[in-house]
Amino acid sequence: MKEYKILPDAEMQKQREYIEKIRIYNERITAGNGKTRYAYVQTFGCQQNEADSERLAGMCEAMGYVVCDDPKMADIIIVNTCAIREHAEQKALSIIGQYKHLKAEKPDMLIGVCGCMVTQEHRKESIKHSYPYVDFVFGTSSIYRLPELVFKKLKVGKRLYCSEETEYLVAEGMPVHRESNYRAWVSIMYGCNNFCTYCIVPYVRGRERSRRPEDIIAEVRELVELGYKDITLLGQNVNSYGKDVKSDNGETYDFADLLSDIDKIEGDYYIRFMTSHPKDASKKLIDVMAESRHVAHQFHLPLQSGSDRVLKAMNRHYDKAKYLDTVEYLRKKISDVTISSDIIVGFPGETEEDFLDTISMLKTVKFDMTYSFIYSPRKDTPAAAMQEQISDDVKGERMNRLLETQNAIALEKNKPMENTIIKVLCDGPSKNNKNVYSGRSEGNKIVLFQGDENDIGKFINLKIVKADTFALHGEKA
Ligand code: SAH
Ligand code: SF4
Ligand code: F3S
Repeated sequence: MKEYKILPDAEMQKQREYIEKIRIYNERITAGNGKTRYAYVQTFGCQQNEADSERLAGMCEAMGYVVCDDPKMADIIIVNTCAIREHAEQKALSIIGQYKHLKAEKPDMLIGVCGCMVTQEHRKESIKHSYPYVDFVFGTSSIYRLPELVFKKLKVGKRLYCSEETEYLVAEGMPVHRESNYRAWVSIMYGCNNFCTYCIVPYVRGRERSRRPEDIIAEVRELVELGYKDITLLGQNVNSYGKDVKSDNGETYDFADLLSDIDKIEGDYYIRFMTSHPKDASKKLIDVMAESRHVAHQFHLPLQSGSDRVLKAMNRHYDKAKYLDTVEYLRKKISDVTISSDIIVGFPGETEEDFLDTISMLKTVKFDMTYSFIYSPRKDTPAAAMQEQISDDVKGERMNRLLETQNAIALEKNKPMENTIIKVLCDGPSKNNKNVYSGRSEGNKIVLFQGDENDIGKFINLKIVKADTFALHGEKA
């Protein structure tokens, strides 16, 4: 027997009852004035938050709201916030600030704020005091309680502040409204136990808890049956999957086991996953990937820094040598794998020499893609209290050098793809240039080409005619 930390179904049943009551309430309003009831869910932050927002939107839909993408139309607005860097918080606060006017024009509208930012006590307090028109605030452990909050707000009219659960559990069975009908997120676990010294996530997402394999596999199978082509498994450290689960016979079921079982599902689709922590990216996992039929040949492996001294101060539990071993094994087993990474510049105490170590790692590994971030102190994390914070000027200057180095590497990695034919999943008109269509390759590279509406959500073979730093240009083969 294995013990997964799942929220009792009685709690979800309570929420289903609230959903039903609100649905009837909304139906009555529409019957009375003929107006459709709309919900707008706005998301900041990572894929985990996007996945949560699809559940929030799903619950809104079940409550009788039509999900829309215009806050002005909405009868309920939910802002799902992020706390990873100062900038993410400021953006969310500024948007919430703008909704004051909407609320003034439409006093019956409900505004809820949730997610990582407001899971921090000081942010919850500041919403309470500085944004009096926000109707309810709830943290990441209370996402599933949206129906209850809407109901209580409608019934009692008072503002509501959900306190965080002391034990974060997995809520199964929330309805979902997916943004896309060919790409999907599937959370396999929640929370993080790693406490990297710069990071807020463990404080706002609670401890690691895994979903039951049968629930995950059933969700992926359903997606494949519905025609989804690209499915990303999500967790802050997917390599920890299953490690929180108590078993009375010592049996284990880890991420590699899960991936291998998912791969057995028949169909024409890719499986991806993120994020994999370098301290425990295992050979077993890479072997499963290499032998799989559906796991995309792409690996996101956040390095953060190329200096062993900084990695130690970050509490990352690996060094350069271990990281390079993993990359070597990965490339040996999967020769065409693309590798991407996250880098932080300007961690407290980072010297010029440390930074040059990072540059040197970029040149050694040659990542296909990196996401680089300027270190942002997060309240109450160990790194924020460290002496020797780096000045903004130095951080900015290092960032520029990092980007310059990486851009040259990305171009060098992309060039050999010219004149090859690759399979691309088409997303539709490019965000930056509506005249071209955009898609993603198995390696998750952006490919631009002349497409048409019928291509959206389909795999297409493209001949790469030109490779740039940030995108490949293709023609239908
Ligand atoms: N769980 C994932 C990362 C989640 S956060 C992992 O461990 O890789 C995504 C990225 O944001 C991190 O990889 C890191 O590069 C960056 N990040 C996290 N905290 C940050 C901070 N305080 N300042 C700047 N970047 C940060
Ligand atoms: Fe943050 Fe580290 Fe956890 Fe990733 S592994 S979410 S960087 S604490
Ligand atoms: Fe942001 Fe929370 Fe994700 S802090 S990056 S939304 S886990």
